[in-house]
Amino acid sequence: MKLSRRDLVWIVPSGIAAAFFGWFGWRTVKIQFLKPDVSGQPRWEDGEQVRLAALDDLDEVWSFKYFDYPLAVGKLPAVVLRLPGPVPGGLTAEGRHYAAWSRICTHQGCTVDYVKNTEAGAVLYNYRSDHPFFGCKCHFGAFDPLRAGKAVFGPPRFPLPRIRLEAEAGELYATGHETPLRPLQSLSTSGGSGRV
Ligand code: FES
Repeated sequence: MKLSRRDLVWIVPSGIAAAFFGWFGWRTVKIQFLKPDVSGQPRWEDGEQVRLAALDDLDEVWSFKYFDYPLAVGKLPAVVLRLPGPVPGGLTAEGRHYAAWSRICTHQGCTVDYVKNTEAGAVLYNYRSDHPFFGCKCHFGAFDPLRAGKAVFGPPRFPLPRIRLEAEAGELYATGHETPLRPLQSLSTSGGSGRV
């Protein structure tokens, strides 16, 4: 069949529109429904041992402390939480549960905040949760500490990378980080894409 110039006038724009909506639909499905669970133990990369706090300093469930974890390229903003129960990649010491994460959002690298007040979080981050979470102001991403940092809302797909914790003589230390350290670590060495 020979196409006339008049046919092309509607076929080409229709093809472009179909391709765009197909891509947009697939991207939406990926963002909304294909956020990976965090079920296993992380692959750790050893790092400096950094004292974070005395175990007693995090004196109640959901207490937290921000800290900087040293990397070769600079300091990684991070947060340690005391949790109501164990999560993969966390630490249980003296009958209490802790876990720590990078605060660099896996979407586009903004710094996430720990949102302890869930009512304020619903207003500020457009995400309603029955327990504290991590929120990213840039595009309203949210991550769930009870699911080991899984991305649960907004554009991020990948979980927050975990920081390895160890306890010694009543003190809490960070001693390494999960790899790949999304979104900072080279994707060519991670075997996957950190982008949506
Ligand atoms: S950078 Fe965090 S949601 Fe986009």
